[in-house]
Amino acid sequence: MFERPDRGQTVVLASLDFGDPDYRDSLDELVLLAQSAGLRVARVVEGRRSRPDAALFAGAGKADEIGQALRETGAGLVIFNHELSPVQERNLETRLHCRVLDRTALILDIFAQRARSSEGKLQVELAQLRHYATRLVRGWTHLERQRGGIGVRGGPGEKQIELDRRLIANRIRTIEARLKKLAQSRAIQRRARGRGGVLSVSLVGYTNAGKSTLFNRLTRAGAYAADQLFATLDTTSRKLWLPEAGPVVLSDTVGFITRLPHTLVAAFHATLEETARADLLLHVVDAASPNRERQIEEVDKVLAEIGAERIPQILVYNKIDLTGAAPDVVRDEYGKIAAVRLSARTGEGAELLKHALAENLAQPGFGEGSHERSEG
Ligand code: GTP
Repeated sequence: MFERPDRGQTVVLASLDFGDPDYRDSLDELVLLAQSAGLRVARVVEGRRSRPDAALFAGAGKADEIGQALRETGAGLVIFNHELSPVQERNLETRLHCRVLDRTALILDIFAQRARSSEGKLQVELAQLRHYATRLVRGWTHLERQRGGIGVRGGPGEKQIELDRRLIANRIRTIEARLKKLAQSRAIQRRARGRGGVLSVSLVGYTNAGKSTLFNRLTRAGAYAADQLFATLDTTSRKLWLPEAGPVVLSDTVGFITRLPHTLVAAFHATLEETARADLLLHVVDAASPNRERQIEEVDKVLAEIGAERIPQILVYNKIDLTGAAPDVVRDEYGKIAAVRLSARTGEGAELLKHALAENLAQPGFGEGSHERSEG
C-alpha cells in the first residue's frame, strides 16, 4: 500500500546542523541507514541553521541547493536527516518536483523490508499507517496535481481523501485487534513458561552491535546476522542450557538506534514488552565503535521508555577481535559481574559469559516475582 523507494535508487541526503553535539554521528548513521535500505547515496547536502524553517525546514537557498544536486546527479529522491512535518514535506516536494522522505520514513522502510513474522509485519504496517495518515490526507493531492499533465483531471479530490482516511482508520483498527490477540497468546505461552520456572534472558543493544552473532554463538542457532542495520526485527527465542544454572530462555530482539521513531516504539511495544519482562538483560555493545558510549546511553534510554530500566544488566563488550582487548570479566566494587569482554565472531570469551550468566542467575531470589516488576 505504501509507495516505497526502489532498491538501487539514487538519493540525495539533506542534513542540517542545529548545533547538536551528535550531529556528525547522526549524519554518518543516516548514510548507513540509506545504504541498509538499498539506496545509492549520490550526494549529501549540509547546512547550518539555528532553527528549522517553518515552511521548508531548510531555508529557500538550501532547498534550491538540494534541487541543483538533484539535477546534477539525476537522483529522484531526497531524504532529510530529521523529522519533517507533513506541510514541510509537501512544500519541499512541490518545490523540488520529487519525492521527499524524512528519517522516520526511511527507518520505517527498512523495518518494512526486514519484517518476517506476521506479527513483525503488522507492527511495521501499523507504524507506517500512523506515520502516513496525516501525510496522505494533506499530501497526495499536490503530487497528483504536479504529475497531472494535459487531460488528467485534478487529483483525487476531497472525496477520495475522505475515503482513504476512512480506509486507513479501518485498517489501523483491524491491525490493532490482531496484534492484541497475538499479545494475548504470547502472554499465555509466557505463563506456561513461568510455571516451568525457566528464567529468561534478553539480548539488547544498538543496531549492528552483534546481538544475532552472539545469539548464534550461544545457542548454535542460525539466526540471521548481517552487516546492515536492523537485520533482526522479530524476537527469536531459544532454550540455552547453562551447566551450572540449568535451562534459560534466550531471546534476540530488535536493535535500537538514536532517535528511534516514536511511531515505531509504539508499534513494537508488544515485542519490546518481552524485553521488559526478562529476568536479565545482556546489553551487547560494539566495543570497536567510537560511538559506543553514546550507543549505550541510547539503548538505556529506550529501555527506560519501555519500563525495563530496572532489570539487571550485564554489559557485553563485543568484537574484541577488533579492539585487541583480552577476554575478561569485569566486576563492580561489590564483586558483582558488570561486564564481559568477548568476541561473538571468534568465540573468545563466550564461555566466560556463560559462567557469568550462571553466576548471576544463581543468586538467591533471582527471577522470583520478576514478571511483576512493572508494578514494583
Ligand atoms: P541488528 O540486527 O542490526 O540489531 O544487528 P545485531 O546487533 O544483531 O548484529 P549482527 O549480529 O547482525 O552483527 C552485525 C555485524 O557485526 C555483522 O557483520 C557481524 O558479522 C559483525 N560482528 C558481530 N560480532 C562480531 C565480533 O565479535 N567481531 C567482529 N569483528 N565482527 C562481529
